[in-house]
Amino acid sequence: MCGIVGYTGTRMAAPILLEGLRQLEYRGYDSAGIAVIHDGQVSLSKVTGRISALAEKTQDGKLLPGTTGIGHTRWATHGAPTDANAHPHTSNDGRFAVVHNGIIENHAELREELMAAGYRFESETDTEVVVHLVEQYYQGDLKQAVMRASSRLRGSYALGIVCSDAPDHIFVAREASPLILGIGIGENFFASDVTALVSNTRNVIYLDDGEYAELSPEGVQVYDCAGHPIGKEVSRVTWDIQAAEKGGYDHFMLKEMTEQPRAVKSTITPRIRNGEVSLDDMDIDLAEINKIVITACGSAYYAGCSGKYAIEKLTRISVQTELASELRYNDPLIDGHTLLIVLSQSGETADTIAAMRECQSRGAKALAIVNVVGSTIAKLADYCLYTWAGPEIAVATTKGYTTQLTALYLFALYAGKKLGTLQDGEYRKLISSLKSLPKLMQQALDMNPHIPTLAKKYHNADSLFFIGRNTDYAVALEAALKMKEISYIHAEAYAAGELKHGTIALVHEGQGVVALCCNESILEKTLSNIIEVKARGAEVLAVAYKGNPKILSCADDYLYIPKVPTLFSAAVEILPLQMLAYYVARENGCDIDKPKNLAKSVTVE
Ligand code: F6R
Repeated sequence: MCGIVGYTGTRMAAPILLEGLRQLEYRGYDSAGIAVIHDGQVSLSKVTGRISALAEKTQDGKLLPGTTGIGHTRWATHGAPTDANAHPHTSNDGRFAVVHNGIIENHAELREELMAAGYRFESETDTEVVVHLVEQYYQGDLKQAVMRASSRLRGSYALGIVCSDAPDHIFVAREASPLILGIGIGENFFASDVTALVSNTRNVIYLDDGEYAELSPEGVQVYDCAGHPIGKEVSRVTWDIQAAEKGGYDHFMLKEMTEQPRAVKSTITPRIRNGEVSLDDMDIDLAEINKIVITACGSAYYAGCSGKYAIEKLTRISVQTELASELRYNDPLIDGHTLLIVLSQSGETADTIAAMRECQSRGAKALAIVNVVGSTIAKLADYCLYTWAGPEIAVATTKGYTTQLTALYLFALYAGKKLGTLQDGEYRKLISSLKSLPKLMQQALDMNPHIPTLAKKYHNADSLFFIGRNTDYAVALEAALKMKEISYIHAEAYAAGELKHGTIALVHEGQGVVALCCNESILEKTLSNIIEVKARGAEVLAVAYKGNPKILSCADDYLYIPKVPTLFSAAVEILPLQMLAYYVARENGCDIDKPKNLAKSVTVE
């Protein structure tokens, strides 16, 4: 997904922009570019491909001297990944350059209008209309020109704009796309992601929708949508850039998988006080709620599918899980008695934001479970529960998913207690189980040293089935997604009982079937499904409690987890399956942290 950065100060801008863009590489991109103001002119460099190519082309920025500039990594939406479509885009008179994150929905009509007025377009992008609009409206006042131009835009944008007439100034604007200012001494920055700022400054301002800001080396001034100067709180970023680096692991994904016990502990610890789940500021009137809807995308949605079991069991409120990309088109049955739970690691997923807005407009209150502080979803939510997983860099989520699950468990316990549907003794027992999750997760990571060997057996598979029932099925959904996205092996999750209704036709000699067998209440049923697929020649890899004799007698291979209460088992059961996907992808030589065609944060619908 696109990323933007900007710098104005006394140092050479280009090397700082290149470094900022490198920090954004994890988001996924296909081209990059920078523009720097030098000697009263905008100098530009763009490449299709990697930041390393841009660094080479500019001799690490030396070929673009100047102390004010903007940069961009592009993930193609309108127009192919080419040099011409890469940002920054410049005006016909060469005075202005623009970088943009987001999508301008009315770009086609604006393009037509601007072409009729004589503006020449160099790219196929939606963004280019912005720079021509700014040129059209510019009468010596950049702020006025940017405000007039952005008032013509429909859609989402985080914009960074420079003009050669104001050589040490940058103008930025935000609407529905993240934009953060970095406050330095004698220098200032902006970026679409705090990761690109922290090596230079920890003091940041999160812009809100409709706001603008003007940056110069001397300071920053934020304006509201009417152009009035406003004061904004400066926040301090507490995590370290080291925390976002690989720390000795071959891949961010491996590092993040091993961090999960610690991350889950960070989710739990601040919320358990004096033996009670305490969710600060959560004054939801649960007695008024007759339905809970969980919405999210991808893995976050699958975390919701697992969490549903715990919430329904402990609160006896019906929980519906809805893909965010579908929900808003379903004329959803949502009103003031619905509690919406929104799950998002990034807090910037466009489909999830849209679904949330739709439900809020129908009267639902939204509880967001989010990792990134100050993100759009966190801000829009009526209540927010941060997962405190730390930055997640690998595109495929791992600790994002397990901490989302944990936050749902916390909510289930909290709501069950509050509603009186969870008795005191059981409540205390479950709190104690929840507190032991990090330890059990660590055991699950430690008790499967044979995963790299298993990966050598399964990595040549054309396809794999992941089967399970009930809570096991919800984990199978996430396990199959992990396998697909990083190893590129087709993988399908199936409710085990459904096999005989059609899919078993695909099971043949040697077909790999991963059978999730951790829900003991329905173990016998899953066992009979294992026997069915074995009878047709499948190779079965079972995930089970260590030492479970029933499973040991019928599968070919095993992944083990320690004994966990079924209600919370998903957070442990997924771990060896994430590892399996990782080692299979490694065997297949895949680009694990940046799988093809994927982006970390999907900020377009
Ligand atoms: C898969 C993955 C994605 C995300 C999805 C939602 O490994 O990471 O499926 O879970 O794009 O992202 P967030 O949680 O940022 O809203």
